[in-house]
Amino acid sequence: MVKRNPHVAKLKDSYLFETVEQRKQDFLAKHPQVTLINLGIGDFVHPLPKSVAAGLSAMAENLSTPSGFKGYGPKEGDKKLRCRIADVLYSQRVAPEEIQISDGILPSLGRLQVLLGANTIIAVQELSYPAYVDTAVVIGQSFDFDQNTQRYGRIVYMKGSAKSPFFPDFSDVPRIDVIYLCSPNNPTGIAATKEQLTELVAFARDRKVIIVYDAAYSSYIRDSEIPKSIYEIEGANDVAIELGSFSKMAGFTGVRLGWSVVPKTLRYDDGTPISSDWSNVYSRLFNGASNIAQAGGLAVLSSKGQEECRQLTDNYLKNARSLKDALSSMGHQCFGGIHCPYVWTHFPGCSSWEAFDNILENAHIVTIPGIGFGPSGEGFLRFSGFNDASKVEQAIENLSAFLT
Ligand code: MLT
Repeated sequence: MVKRNPHVAKLKDSYLFETVEQRKQDFLAKHPQVTLINLGIGDFVHPLPKSVAAGLSAMAENLSTPSGFKGYGPKEGDKKLRCRIADVLYSQRVAPEEIQISDGILPSLGRLQVLLGANTIIAVQELSYPAYVDTAVVIGQSFDFDQNTQRYGRIVYMKGSAKSPFFPDFSDVPRIDVIYLCSPNNPTGIAATKEQLTELVAFARDRKVIIVYDAAYSSYIRDSEIPKSIYEIEGANDVAIELGSFSKMAGFTGVRLGWSVVPKTLRYDDGTPISSDWSNVYSRLFNGASNIAQAGGLAVLSSKGQEECRQLTDNYLKNARSLKDALSSMGHQCFGGIHCPYVWTHFPGCSSWEAFDNILENAHIVTIPGIGFGPSGEGFLRFSGFNDASKVEQAIENLSAFLT
């Protein structure tokens, strides 16, 4: 028989969001009369904007005609879409040739791990999206999981400083090859400032480290002083890869569309451009994003699409703001929720899973336990603003009846 892959065997039993879903289903099986409010996984609840749906269906319709049918497309994606991303989202800071269209950030993380290989030492922000660590574990970048520290050996977990508890303190980082950083951050909801990102780029240039910058929530930034892309920082094109997605910008969590940027100036220590290896990995592991999804992406990036998506994301930001205000007024320390639809909330005196169960059972709200994002998430819950305003209002009423 085939031996079990020891790296896969190291993974915790289930992915964080699946564990939460299972707990929710178990609760509903016992209490079928209860209506739960979902403030857990970050997923759109509103329908796609009409202009975006029109883009998707026009392509589907085209595919049913002899002249409009298309099979395989270029693996790096439709040129028009790459040009529009470079224009609308990057103001030409990166070239269309440096952009590869994908099916979302999570699968791109897996492909990136294949690109970088098992011998690289990665560092993640403490706290961070669990997929950075999980994909590194699958590829064999970690040593065993330590139950006491709740960490995988060899992976570096970068803590914050007293001044910025959730942004890495670069003064004490051992030898590493790659840093994963997400801003606005999932789960804390905090957007890194220009000053902080300048520090990150300076560190990466000095230590010859590659940054993998996850910009999944950049469309929630409403302050022009806060960078939406790492390439707004001078010198970043030589050290950073950026991952972007239409999921949280336009509700494409089911449609599936994203992109990566690997600048031509980003090189290995022997001078080889990383983009040529990325292109090679792409053609071996991916046949290109769906042409229907890409047509939808073009519609999202039209001025009408941008306006309609902005209205949707404004709603989720408003919800996050209401949750933050309400939870703060109930005496809980809260972070984020301004340029990101997540509110990171402290529940002192109990573990994250205890807080999760309490809120589930007594306020009938699904959240995400902070421990799932790293050991220092213990005692925290992540509340998401991705729901209808009326549901968020109801959630606040339930919370206030239970917590005050
Ligand atoms: C989240 O809720 O953190 C993410 O949206 C889940 C995901 O994208 O996998």
